[in-house]
Amino acid sequence: MTVGIIGCGTMGAGIAQVAATFKNKVIVVDTNEDALNKANSNLQETLQKLQQKGKLSEEKRKEIIDNIQWTSDFHTLQDAELIIEAIIENIDIKQKVFAQIESIVSEKCVLATNTSSLSITSIAAACAKPHRVIGIHFFNPAAIMQLVEIIPALQTDSTIVAHAKSVIESWNKVTVIAKDTPGFIVNRIARPFYSEAIRIYEEGIASIEMIDFSLKKYGGFKMGPFELMDLIGHDVNYTVTETVWKSFYFDTKYTPSFSQKRLVEAKWFGKKSGRGFYQYTSQNEQVKQENNYDETACRIIVNRVLAMLIHEAANALYLNIATKQDIELAMTKGVNYPKGLLEWANEIGIENVRKTLDDLYEYYHEERYRYSPLLKTIKQF
Ligand code: NAI
Repeated sequence: MTVGIIGCGTMGAGIAQVAATFKNKVIVVDTNEDALNKANSNLQETLQKLQQKGKLSEEKRKEIIDNIQWTSDFHTLQDAELIIEAIIENIDIKQKVFAQIESIVSEKCVLATNTSSLSITSIAAACAKPHRVIGIHFFNPAAIMQLVEIIPALQTDSTIVAHAKSVIESWNKVTVIAKDTPGFIVNRIARPFYSEAIRIYEEGIASIEMIDFSLKKYGGFKMGPFELMDLIGHDVNYTVTETVWKSFYFDTKYTPSFSQKRLVEAKWFGKKSGRGFYQYTSQNEQVKQENNYDETACRIIVNRVLAMLIHEAANALYLNIATKQDIELAMTKGVNYPKGLLEWANEIGIENVRKTLDDLYEYYHEERYRYSPLLKTIKQF
């Protein structure tokens, strides 16, 4: 099929690579010629490296490159059957672009947005045919991360949902369906992984090194929250936190932290700028520290972060944001959690999760530590 990608930044270029790998004709449109040239040469370089490592044949590399056309001319999209928009995260600009492409593409073309945080419904509302608008949310890096969230707008036709799901699955991705609510599944449920870790650090309970160590060693997470935030970039991660918080009408459960805000203000974005929570040497390697942490103290940190994550997963289920199966898939495939949070809750015992959250609430008396009605009643997920 012919797939149009609008925006050739981090996400657009990655999605183009995926679509081209699966033999689609891909047209990448961006208003910035320099960005187009850069994205094109970066992709050539990436594919060249994959070939050198023996992960891609020369024939396949050429095929991918030949399948992609890079252009600033929106009219080249006229024969596209699916458009995936991945431009700047700004509702006014996205709405304008959607209205503009609607006048170019055929009636049958499906219009998708890769937005992380905007309402799909509000983007659909800018279109004459809102029933064909849908959220198709890839994770960074799109070529590697297996998960894609499919988010119908209020107006989306159910046939479009089924169609989008089958197209994305034919690109070897795992799809989950999410309700059009702030953060969809992953960016909503994952918030406490960062925010509770920061809170523990801000209170002086443990150092960032100790918190990262605890979650890796005793939680089984591949990366600690501070390492991960440094890798994602605080500009990106803080913006998601702030957007989710604002979108939930300033629910104090999601209040962003001053620690991370200051990092953004200082332009200490993390690994990419050489400094974030950690400092990076010229080889861009994180400065490792020796550790000799008390196991009980580490396990208390893990229980606290995990209980907050389990609340989010339980509440997403309670509010019908997604099915139980999709909530588990989203967190294991979208952010590589070692296991699904609901299964994890069963293993720990729901009464133990409740106890951790009850103790936190008792201690702080903050709304932040309230928990889902589902956690209060359920014995096993
Ligand atoms: P980016 O800043 O790397 O790239 C955006 C591209 O869009 C730029 O090349 C820019 O020239 C182009 N652009 C801006 N306005 C345009 C217009 N009116 N018409 C055509 N092209 C235009 O952005 P990134 O990070 O790739 O994000 C794109 C979208 O994907 C956003 O909606 C973001 O929320 C979402 N997203 C980002 C993720 C990430 O980790 N960066 C993960 C998942 C979703």
